[in-house]
Amino acid sequence: MAHQAQATWGGRFSSGPAGLMLRFSESVSCDARLAPFDLQGSKAHSAMLAHVGLLSRRERDAIHRGLDAIGCEIIAGKFKWHAKLEDVHMNIEQALTKRVPAAAKLHTARSRNDQVATDMRLYLKAACAELGTQLQAAQQAILGAATRHVDVLIPGYTHLQRAQPVYFAHQLFAYLEMLERDAGRFAAVHDHANWCPLGSGAIAGTTLPIDREFTAKRLGFVDAAGRPRVTQNSMDAVSDRDVHLEFAAACALTGVHLSRMAEDMILWASMEFKFVELPDAFCTGSSLMPQKKNPDSLELIRGKSARLQGNLHTLLTLVKGLPLTYNRDLQEDKRPVFDSHDQTALCLAVLAGTFAGMKVNRFRCVMAVADPALLATDLADYLVRAGVAFREAHHAVGGVVRLAERQKVPLNRLSLAEVQSVHAAFRKDWVEAFDLPKAMQRRTGTGMPGPAQVKRQLARWKKLLGQ
Ligand code: ARG
Repeated sequence: MAHQAQATWGGRFSSGPAGLMLRFSESVSCDARLAPFDLQGSKAHSAMLAHVGLLSRRERDAIHRGLDAIGCEIIAGKFKWHAKLEDVHMNIEQALTKRVPAAAKLHTARSRNDQVATDMRLYLKAACAELGTQLQAAQQAILGAATRHVDVLIPGYTHLQRAQPVYFAHQLFAYLEMLERDAGRFAAVHDHANWCPLGSGAIAGTTLPIDREFTAKRLGFVDAAGRPRVTQNSMDAVSDRDVHLEFAAACALTGVHLSRMAEDMILWASMEFKFVELPDAFCTGSSLMPQKKNPDSLELIRGKSARLQGNLHTLLTLVKGLPLTYNRDLQEDKRPVFDSHDQTALCLAVLAGTFAGMKVNRFRCVMAVADPALLATDLADYLVRAGVAFREAHHAVGGVVRLAERQKVPLNRLSLAEVQSVHAAFRKDWVEAFDLPKAMQRRTGTGMPGPAQVKRQLARWKKLLGQ
């Protein structure tokens, strides 16, 4: 069944799109969330049109009043969205036209192609700023956990085998570094989004005497000195989706980081490790097994990271084969971008909540880190200090480990004679290599887990995160 010709582009059509086509092509069910940015863009555009004399001041003011009223209706949930008007842009323009006759001039020197590009850049700037704040909140929750347990030692793992002792806080600081890089990426995406495409028209700008810099300034597309930043090629501006992709990539990488943290905590919370206890508020039970407390928040973070990668992949594939410039395929860019934004925000909030309520089982940590084998490398360093070449020292300590295993005793329970039978450089003080506090104190270099370094990092993060 064909509908009446579509009002905004219906001039050359004898009939409107079929009902099925309308359902197929509408995007307002998804892009209505761009409304605040679309309104902002239209206000700036109409202000510019008045500035260059294409609108009278009175027309501009009527348009602004109409847009403000529509904005209020949308916020109040009273605005009626119509799928047959396709998208957010046409819904708002049509509603405005009904109230304000001058609205018929609003689309002068503008196309939905540069309009949607502008809306999305405004949206992405806001999303980057919001995720930056949320990353900081997650970092603060992690820093809180580090501060509360600053004296706790745990084994650090490689290959999921106990490797060397580290302060629990040292591992949490690793998470802070990861999230800090993520924040840097969102700041970079924000900067890349900060160019105004408005004025590029459908593909080739306009013949009318517009002032692109005026609009850019109005919309906050400016550099640090307040100079307007406008895109430099109209064809690129309406077809470029790099910022969308970069945003999704930043979300995907944040997701990978969150997933790795989640995996650590899932392990730590298991009966086998029992280093931490997760807050009930972020766990669920089993419908069958009464004893179970499942780390669902963390498993979902791990799962959602797959979704974030999927969104990035969708966007890469969407854009890959497209000829310049705008193609309707690009309408499909919004769902993955919005979803990445929403899910990243949720994951960060849930991670923060989980860290804030997490308890550390100090006893289990002490037990786990007490294994002298964790300091086997320190024993090799002992031999190095005695003048033995590291390769030889490594080999000798390997022999000591084998000996202890054969005798079924901890490494530090062998006798001096026994270790000397492996290497003559061992002296009476060899067991001091297993003095855990002293061993930690020897790790003095930047980025190492010595107590002084951990304290320094704690102070650094407190300062960086404003605590
Ligand atoms: N809803 C459209 C989108 O998001 C807006 C641009 C439409 N442009 C066009 N030439 N049909 O892509």
